[in-house]
Amino acid sequence: MELSQDVEKIKYAIRDILVLAKEVEKSGKELFYFNIGDPDKYDFDTPDFLKSALVEAIMEDKANYYSNSAGDQNLREEIVERQKRLWGTDLDPDNVLVTTGASEAIAFIAASIAPGTEVLVPSPLYPTYLSYLKFYNVVPVQYNTRESDNWQPDIEDIRKKISSKTQAIILINPNNPTGAVYSPKVVKQLADIAGEHNLLIISDEIYDLLSFDGSFRSTASLTDVPVLELNGISKTLLSPGWRLGWAILRDNEDKGYSDLWEALAKQSRIRLCASSPVQVAVSKVLNKETDYLSSVINKLKKRSDYFSKRINEMDGLSLVPPKGAFYAFPRIHKDIDDQEFVKNLLQETGVLFVFGSGFGELGKGHFRSVVLPDIEIMEKALNIVESYLMTIK
Ligand SMILES: Cc1ncc(COP(=O)(O)O)c(C=O)c1O
Repeated sequence: MELSQDVEKIKYAIRDILVLAKEVEKSGKELFYFNIGDPDKYDFDTPDFLKSALVEAIMEDKANYYSNSAGDQNLREEIVERQKRLWGTDLDPDNVLVTTGASEAIAFIAASIAPGTEVLVPSPLYPTYLSYLKFYNVVPVQYNTRESDNWQPDIEDIRKKISSKTQAIILINPNNPTGAVYSPKVVKQLADIAGEHNLLIISDEIYDLLSFDGSFRSTASLTDVPVLELNGISKTLLSPGWRLGWAILRDNEDKGYSDLWEALAKQSRIRLCASSPVQVAVSKVLNKETDYLSSVINKLKKRSDYFSKRINEMDGLSLVPPKGAFYAFPRIHKDIDDQEFVKNLLQETGVLFVFGSGFGELGKGHFRSVVLPDIEIMEKALNIVESYLMTIK
């Protein structure tokens, strides 16, 4: 078959490194997995109330059909209620589109934007954005987030990079891969620029409830400019394998995003619907069960603090301590390229991180680790990393 050249544009370092990991594992080495942002692969479990709601939805035979393409109506209403409860934002259920993970929403958005135009994306960033935008021939223009400023977006750099072709500014908050949580002040400044230039803000808030000190604020609660928010259950409801997410458009002043919304809705119709039983289950618990989170955050924060302390004590690495999500993004202060560092470390010791250059231009010279493993495993792996560092210049 003759294949589309566009397929070559798809890169996903987080999973690409696994090919080498499998080879290393086959050779008999014990692997330490610090590479994938899936809490359920570590000692975090999908809450029982959610599992029971799914079993009930299936056994009662009330959800085994195709749902509306845009999403189960009750779920859309519960999503609006969630946003009101958490962030005080007033949204409309008709402006909620339920998807198979936020990833599907990202694909729909990228596919809807005119080829040849530009979208501003943070650097470093979650690589799915780069791949989908490139795949659909939209140009991702990377704006800096500043390590020296806790990885906050560089407002002046955003200003400089806006052109007549720019359509939207993406922000990822709390951030993958840096673990940054953006200050409300910076988000407001960014929103003001978007307002000045009539740009849509695409705000990925999939880790919204996972800021360690609760300082996160939803973009739509900080500005009146149009915001397309992405969210889902993978991270905050600890259920990435269930594949449920959503997009919410908040355009109070009707600045003309109904065409975009219809483009997303059209794509949702050709794929029929997101998993119907999962939607019903989530609609039953989304605003009722909230107590489980504090222990999750406590556990995450302890692990993140331990990881940060250990990395910052090492000769050859430094780290801006994460403020949320599951990730840390250490800088390598050695004369070695980040890909080589991660690959050599994996081959020689079995410790698996993801190389930073897979997360955009400013990812170079870094690696991404999750802070999900328990402290005993972290200690073992970080001791190995410490010894490995002594072997390189
Ligand atoms: C910033 C960000 N957005 C989206 C996703 C994908 O979310 P989902 O599982 O809902 O497709 C991830 C997953 O790691 C992520 O880190």
